[in-house]
Parts: sequence; C-alpha cells; structure tokens
Amino acid sequence: MISGKTRVLGVIGHPVEHTSSPAMHNAALAALGLDYVYTAFAVRPENLGQAIAGMRALQICGLNVTVPHKVGVMALLDEVSPEARAIGAVNTIDHREGRLIGHNTDAYGIMQSLRLDGGLETLPSRVALLGAGGAARAILYALLQRPEVEHIALFNRTPEKAAALAVTLDPECKRVQPGVLDASSSDLLRDTGLLINATAIGMYPHPDASPLLDPACLHPGMVVLDIVYNPLETLLLRQARQAGARPVDGLGMLARQGARAFAIWTGVEPPVEVMRAAALERLAKAAS
Ligand SMILES: NC(=O)c1ccc[n+]([C@@H]2O[C@H](COP(=O)([O-])OP(=O)(O)OC[C@H]3O[C@@H](n4cnc5c(N)ncnc54)[C@H](OP(=O)(O)O)[C@@H]3O)[C@@H](O)[C@H]2O)c1
Repeated sequence: MISGKTRVLGVIGHPVEHTSSPAMHNAALAALGLDYVYTAFAVRPENLGQAIAGMRALQICGLNVTVPHKVGVMALLDEVSPEARAIGAVNTIDHREGRLIGHNTDAYGIMQSLRLDGGLETLPSRVALLGAGGAARAILYALLQRPEVEHIALFNRTPEKAAALAVTLDPECKRVQPGVLDASSSDLLRDTGLLINATAIGMYPHPDASPLLDPACLHPGMVVLDIVYNPLETLLLRQARQAGARPVDGLGMLARQGARAFAIWTGVEPPVEVMRAAALERLAKAAS
C-alpha cells in the first residue's frame, strides 16, 4: 500500500515504455515487504537537467538511467564512482544524504552472470567480445579487471569504434585486439573459450540474425553469452547449443545489474530469481 512514507525509485530514459525494470524491482520490493515504489519516467534529452533537479527536490531515493542519458547525466551528479568514471557511463543514481552519486552496475551484472549462470569461476585466457557500444564498454572494462584474461578479440561492424574503445580502456592494446565483425571473424574465434555478443544483432524485430556468419567456430567447452534478451533464445544461442557450447542468455545480466542497484539504494540484497522471473513475465507479455 502506497502511503505518505513510501519512498520513490525509478528509471529515466527515452523511450522508456518497454522497460522491464519496474516489473523486476517492484517484484523484489514486494517479496521483501519494503516500503518503496519503482516507476518509469520518460525524460527527453533537453529535459535531463530539470529531471535531475527534480530528483533532488522530490527526494527520489534512486534512479536507473538508460538510453540516451547514461553519459550526459554524469556532469549533473555530485560524485561518480571510479568504476562508472572508467566505463564512462552511469546507469544508477543513489540519492544519499542530499548528494547524488552515480554508479555503473553493468560490469558487476555481467561478471555475476558469467559466474553463476555460465559456471565460470575463473574466465578463459582468450575471450571474444562482439560490439563496441555502451554495453560492450562496460563488459570490456569488467573483462580487463580479470588478470586471467590475457587476450580479448574485440570485433565490431564499425571497426573504428572497436579501435577507439580498445585504446580508451587498454591504451597500449596489450590485451585487447580490435577488428572488424564480418565473415572473416569466425575463423579468428576458434581458440576462444568465451564469446560474448554485446551487439544488437538478433534482437527483436530481427530474431533470425546472428552475429556469426559462420558458426563453425563454436565448440564444446565454449561459453556463449548473448546479452540480447528480447528474444531470450537468440539464433546465436541456438547455434551455440547445437555446437555443444554452453549458452547463457541476457536475462541473468539484466537481473543482476538490477539487483546491484537495488542493494545500493536499499542496503538489502534482493531475491535475484524473483527479479529474473518478473522480467521474463514482462517480456512474455510484451511479445504476446
Ligand atoms: N542483458 C543486459 O543486461 C543488457 C544490458 C545492456 C544492453 N543490452 C542489450 O545489448 C544490445 C546492445 O546495447 P547497447 O546499449 O550497447 O547499444 P549501442 O550502444 O547502441 O551499441 C549497439 C552495438 O550493436 C552493433 N550493431 C547494431 N546493429 C547492428 C547490425 N545490424 N549489424 C552489426 N552490428 C550492429 C553496433 O555496431 P556499430 O558500432 O557498427 O553501430 C554496436 O556495436 C541491445 O540488444 C541491448 O538490449 C543488454
């Protein structure tokens, strides 16, 4: 029951109607009996400054930040965590004692998903990351924190973006090798133990597309994580299963980055499975 004491959480983005975050967070809040409500705010880019001033004035406890505000919001905050600063994007704002503190929980989300959904306590020494957008940036940062990862092949449709991202996070390109994502990429991926798709290829409304033109590089013993979660079972994951590799869908990362934000705001670890199930239900409803 919402009362005068109920605290407010939410997500800002544009568009934001299709987000599964309210479903995930409200399910976890209800499961724990916490007196918060989580909603979605459509904020146009030109209104971002007013929205953040409003967060202060209305004493909104916490916000998730999604496209297109993840970079622009950083300049409006009182503090940005070292991790979010290194990634160059904020996806969570914590309103604490009158100060707005920016965090990025995507790196945590992917690492937890690889460990708990992919069964990888330690990562393979050779990893391939497809994509050079916002999500790939957080994932590359997370991979570079792991000393056992010696080589990261970073492939993108626009190779200049892969090269720029590589230089930003690994200035001498000692561990990151940028390249183009095309028909030749598959050959270069054969000795990879972990393949992560962080491109939008395979996402609705193009579920019949795979980032791999030739899936012959997929093999048993390989973990394939596709961060696309709409649809949940992408063509890439079906190709992985057929090749005997271990497929991991993007819902685990989504739920775990959300869980980290929830813990930052409330100080309580949420039930991740409740969040995952709520997101799944929301996605199923949206698809029907
Ligand atoms: N599971 C999760 O928690 C989670 C979190 C964040 C994002 N995601 C998903 O991850 C995907 C990427 O998100 P993002 O925020 O990184 O987006 P983004 O910043 O817009 O980056 C998009 C990436 O996809 C590539 N791409 C898009 N369309 C392509 C095509 N037709 N052919 C080849 N490459 C293509 C882009 O390549 P170019 O540079 O060449 O344009 C770029 O590398 C989305 O599906 C999103 O829903 C999942």
